[in-house]
Amino acid sequence: MSVDMKPYGIRSDRLADIRVREDEAFGRRTTASRTLHERAKRVMPHGVPMQWMAGLYRHPPIMVADGDGAWFGDVDGNRYLDMNLSDYAGSLGFNCGPVADAIAARARSGLSFLLPDEDAIAASELLAERTGLPYWQFSGAASSANMEAIRIARLASGRERILMFHGRYHGHIGETLVSDADDAQPVRAMGLHSSDGSAAHCIAFNDLPELERQLRTGEFACVIAEPMLTNCNLVFPDDGFWQDARRLIHDAGCLLIADEAHTHNFAYGGLTAHWELDPDIMIIGKGMGTGVPFAVYGMSGDIGHVVERHLDVDVAAPVGVALGGTTFGNALATATARAALEHCLRREDYDRTALLGSKLESGLEKIFTGHGLDWMAPRIGGRAGWHLSSKSPRTAEDALASLDPDFVDTRRIYMANRGIWEAISSAGPSVSFAHADAEIDHYLEVAAAFVDDCLG
Ligand SMILES: Cc1ncc(COP(=O)(O)O)c(C=O)c1O
Repeated sequence: MSVDMKPYGIRSDRLADIRVREDEAFGRRTTASRTLHERAKRVMPHGVPMQWMAGLYRHPPIMVADGDGAWFGDVDGNRYLDMNLSDYAGSLGFNCGPVADAIAARARSGLSFLLPDEDAIAASELLAERTGLPYWQFSGAASSANMEAIRIARLASGRERILMFHGRYHGHIGETLVSDADDAQPVRAMGLHSSDGSAAHCIAFNDLPELERQLRTGEFACVIAEPMLTNCNLVFPDDGFWQDARRLIHDAGCLLIADEAHTHNFAYGGLTAHWELDPDIMIIGKGMGTGVPFAVYGMSGDIGHVVERHLDVDVAAPVGVALGGTTFGNALATATARAALEHCLRREDYDRTALLGSKLESGLEKIFTGHGLDWMAPRIGGRAGWHLSSKSPRTAEDALASLDPDFVDTRRIYMANRGIWEAISSAGPSVSFAHADAEIDHYLEVAAAFVDDCLG
């Protein structure tokens, strides 16, 4: 009988057997969560307050109880080392002291006034110093910050369409959810307006000739991109890619929006500073890893002046650029941002995280080579990946081959049963600002046992 072997050298039947065994074990460990979930399903679709919480996993959701550092607990009393920390919404850990103090102080003295405060100035000064972008705004989330950045780009360029790279994710906003394929179904989610499909176009990452060809059409207001792809494993830019791309984008009268919702975690000042990207607008999302829902975005001097010239004034005409929201830039967000920047996101914090990240990278590579697998562990800052091939990915298509759901889902449930949580299947393990050395050892021990089991 022929054995069905995955292209990355693991037998399909072996993965399937592990998956069945681990699903059963997970069910036994999470009975209190399931009881609560039955109750939840009566009042919330899928029994969750936000539907991704059900869609991210192939098992019923666990109900969380509390968090401490890089660990959280569920209502069954299980403890999990979180190697994703809410997809970077919690990258400072679950009870970051200076942030908790700032939030508590603010909660006792007013959270929202619809007025500016000194914390907003201090946070913007620190961001300007670190990134080189002089002007800053607060927004509700990375999605809304990206939406605002796109509107500013349309205003500044006088054009409408946006250009992106396959493998991107820029939030649940209509025009960025176009299908990757140039096919009959232009949008890749439901509930969108049909015109969203023609508002944007996608090309392969690292493809400079195609970028140049598209820019020559003169249709695009902006290129919106992560400095490297992080939503389909990890894909690095080729050497010199951004220098050339930046010049082409600039020459085409187009804006570069660097979506650093994730990548600001990888280097002090984000990859904007680390790789000298010189974007027109830069987005930092997910409450800077504090768990508080807000985002910030920075602008060049020119773009800041465009915003200043088009103030959207209540009651009085003229109509300006559509930015903002009632709770954006409130005192909770500004105090949180200031505390995070001053006390938790210092240069030494990034250095420490990168050191643990390199331990994670070399540990994973040792496991792979020790088992005769020609896999790689790409890494930047604290974030690493399981790349199940020896060829470095240059495009989303290359990277997606390593995200075989049979492998990723089996790995995630195996790890969950051994106290490790990896929330997002398209991500890899991430060292947060809250992780310690011994926790990387713990992850690597379980990772080695999983690979052993897969080959066993
Ligand atoms: C690169 C990037 N941009 C934007 C977003 C949207 O963030 P949010 O869902 O917090 O609005 C995400 C979410 O994962 C992201 O990965």
